[in-house]
Amino acid sequence: MLISFEGLDFSGKTTQIKLLVDRLKSAGHDTVLVREPGGTPISEKIRNILLDNKNKEMTQIAELFLFSAARNQLVNQVILPSMKDGKIVICDRFYDSTTAYQGYGRGINIEAITKINEIATMRTKPDLTFFIDIPINEITKRRLSANTSIIDRMESSGEKFYEKVRNGYLEIAKNEPERFFVINGLQDVNTIHDTIWKIISKNL
Ligand code: TYD
Repeated sequence: MLISFEGLDFSGKTTQIKLLVDRLKSAGHDTVLVREPGGTPISEKIRNILLDNKNKEMTQIAELFLFSAARNQLVNQVILPSMKDGKIVICDRFYDSTTAYQGYGRGINIEAITKINEIATMRTKPDLTFFIDIPINEITKRRLSANTSIIDRMESSGEKFYEKVRNGYLEIAKNEPERFFVINGLQDVNTIHDTIWKIISKNL
């Protein structure tokens, strides 16, 4: 089983992933957690290039191919072998991030993105995807109260970009309602976890 999580900055995605992995493990499921971009030595190197603030001149197409390259490496080295071993794989982001950020966010043709995603993942699809959704003004609020001064290259793209990315995710949800669940990220942590757990339990 393959489950992916999606969400904008400060959506609480990482907290939810931790809760889920702990719960799956204590229920006796062999669980593997991976993050994108990253998760293999090569993919982690690509991650550094992608997030490095010095790389301001990176073209949108270079960005698209780097995310995709990191993903193909992860699919082949970790995701597919783990699934073959019968493990549950949890992905902190998967190809929907490319559709939302590079497609809807940057404006690269969605059909082209879909093709590249298929090549990068070798048509590996998540069984379930959870998009933890929060409005953009909530991100700004949470960023201020977190008091973080470090902003990576992707995070410096601005509010308009985030709005497009969010709308992109909501579009994916419309197109694939059986797989892609929108979870209201303004609810409290345990309510969100219970909602996610109910959906997963049905599918386990
Ligand atoms: P990361 O620090 O992992 O952020 P988060 O905790 O939000 O997952 O950084 C990943 C960044 O890369 C994030 O801003 C989303 C972006 N991204 C894309 O633009 N396209 C992609 O295909 C992926 C996987 C991530």
